[in-house]
Amino acid sequence: MTAIHSYDPKAGHGLRHDPLNAIVAPRPIGWISTVSAAGVRNLAPYSFFNAFNYKPPIIGFSSTGWKDSVRNIEETGQFVWNLATRPLAQAVNATSAMVPEHVDEFALAGLTAAPSQRVAAPRVAESPVAFECRLTQIVRFNDAEGAPVDAWLTLGEVVMVHIDQALLVDGVYDTVAAQPILRGGGAGDYFGIDEAGKFQMFRPG
Ligand SMILES: Cc1cc2nc3c(=O)[nH]c(=O)nc-3n(C[C@H](O)[C@H](O)[C@H](O)COP(=O)(O)O)c2cc1C
Repeated sequence: MTAIHSYDPKAGHGLRHDPLNAIVAPRPIGWISTVSAAGVRNLAPYSFFNAFNYKPPIIGFSSTGWKDSVRNIEETGQFVWNLATRPLAQAVNATSAMVPEHVDEFALAGLTAAPSQRVAAPRVAESPVAFECRLTQIVRFNDAEGAPVDAWLTLGEVVMVHIDQALLVDGVYDTVAAQPILRGGGAGDYFGIDEAGKFQMFRPG
């Protein structure tokens, strides 16, 4: 018989560290740039992030609490997702600092704000991939009893894509070459990817 550690999250996990983030891992990072209605730039990483639809492409991230990124997106209806890469890891982390809303995290992390084409929010020039997005929905979470939770899922349609051509090999995007960083569990675990970890499998039929 296998011993199973089972628990109701509302009653507590009973472990040294909450395993949730280590189980649902590694997670891609939504490095989200926005601009406030007053014109202040903002940049922050969100690992509760993913792509949810192909056509139209829709991506989203979840904010625990009503953070500056969500407020700016509600104000302007726009944001940019930037690929968080290994060479940019320290800068990604620096942009997660809790700083007052008037602080520009591009400057804080020594990054260059490149103008976008379809939205006012700038993209990170140093990042090799960026999606310009228009807000589609901000959804406040409820728990299973229907009680509101202090967390918001922000979804946006991708209206412009930018890819460093060095990552396009014979017209195919090279995920390994892009060196995405992925969030693991614990306080500071991240993962990278490499060719050795890749395998192929095709759908039946
Ligand atoms: C790798 C990484 C992932 C993060 N993921 C999230 C997340 O999914 N949701 C969240 O609310 N905060 C997350 N944070 C914390 C935010 O980045 C942090 O609260 C930041 O100050 C928010 O910035 P803003 O208020 O300018 O939007 C993450 C931080 C790091 C370093």
